[in-house]
Amino acid sequence: MKFPTPVCRILVLLILQLSLSPVCLGFGFLAPVAVGVSSVVLGTICHFKECCSERGIPANFSGLEDALEKRLYGQHLVQDIVVNALRSHWDGAHKPQKALTLSFHGWPGSGKNYVTRFIVENMYAAGIKSNFVNQFIGRIHFPLQENVAQYQEDLYKWIKGNVTKCSKQLFIFDEVDKMPSQVLNVIKPMIDYREDVDGTDYRESVFIFLSNTGANLINEHFLDLWKKQGRKREDLKLKDFEMLISKGAFNEEGGFHHSDTIKSNLIDHYVPFLPMERRHIKLCIIDEFKERKVMNPQEEHINEAMEFIEWGPSAEKVFSTTGCKRISQKVGTIVSKYKLHIK
Ligand SMILES: *[C@@H]1O[C@H](CO)[C@@H](O)[C@H](O)[C@H]1NC(C)=O
Ligand SMILES: *[C@@H]1O[C@H](CO)[C@@H](O)[C@H](O)[C@H]1NC(C)=O
Repeated sequence: MKFPTPVCRILVLLILQLSLSPVCLGFGFLAPVAVGVSSVVLGTICHFKECCSERGIPANFSGLEDALEKRLYGQHLVQDIVVNALRSHWDGAHKPQKALTLSFHGWPGSGKNYVTRFIVENMYAAGIKSNFVNQFIGRIHFPLQENVAQYQEDLYKWIKGNVTKCSKQLFIFDEVDKMPSQVLNVIKPMIDYREDVDGTDYRESVFIFLSNTGANLINEHFLDLWKKQGRKREDLKLKDFEMLISKGAFNEEGGFHHSDTIKSNLIDHYVPFLPMERRHIKLCIIDEFKERKVMNPQEEHINEAMEFIEWGPSAEKVFSTTGCKRISQKVGTIVSKYKLHIK
């Protein structure tokens, strides 16, 4: 059974109207019944077809906050910015003035995709399967410089089409640094301060851009603050990284290179992901053991997983060059090698 969205919307309106109509009010005793029936019907419809309402988009900010607090290591800046930005964008207290745009920067494995996954899971009931979540990957969706015009045309059509169906859309652009420059210029009017772009209002949507651009500069700057100036990682503030933003460190290559979006300051938040230290990697490893039902992994097994990790930058070797990526497979190997899962 399939309900196209307009049908879904009309039914919802009809049901709401029925439950509030004078007839129902006249027969006061029927009102609770009507409300009850309508919520059952609504539940059924939204069960078969994702609804563009609180059911489909519960936007669970406390769930997101909780998940990031418990599962994300070493990224307190990210936690603050992301939760607050989304909450103020979608809290319903006021209509946003523009689409929310977040740009995530950091080495591979520092948690950019990981955080994005938690956002998706906590904002949308259907998670990554939601029709309101659209993911584009630089090297897969936009591989060729010569096709830029086509990519732009498709992108504009898709974004417009989806936002027209439901305004609380999430658009994720992964590997922005691997995209031809200019592709993203097409979204500029959509993320600008405008109520109406060619008949569509984009202001409730959210755009997240992920890239490795600027990661080396983030790392160097962090190392400087930490080793030379003796600052504690946990005490760093976003403003400690603002000079990187103003220097344009996050736009040096790929999709945002020489981009109109950047020139017009349409990115609301640049979010630096700090490189992962030994202690953070260790926590990721322990989590992976727990995923495999090894609740108290021994130090020697943790260290064995640790040996697979490569460290950088070349002089200091204090940060994992792959963050918490690929740890899962290593831990899996160790668990099966020592048959830890059946002990
Ligand atoms: C939000 O997420 C938390 C943690 O996952 C969960 O306990 C809670 O029930 C959720 N709230 C809603 C309204 O879905
Ligand atoms: C919505 O976006 C997807 C790509 O994420 C695209 O395939 C689809 O055609 C779009 N829908 C509309 C109605 O434009």
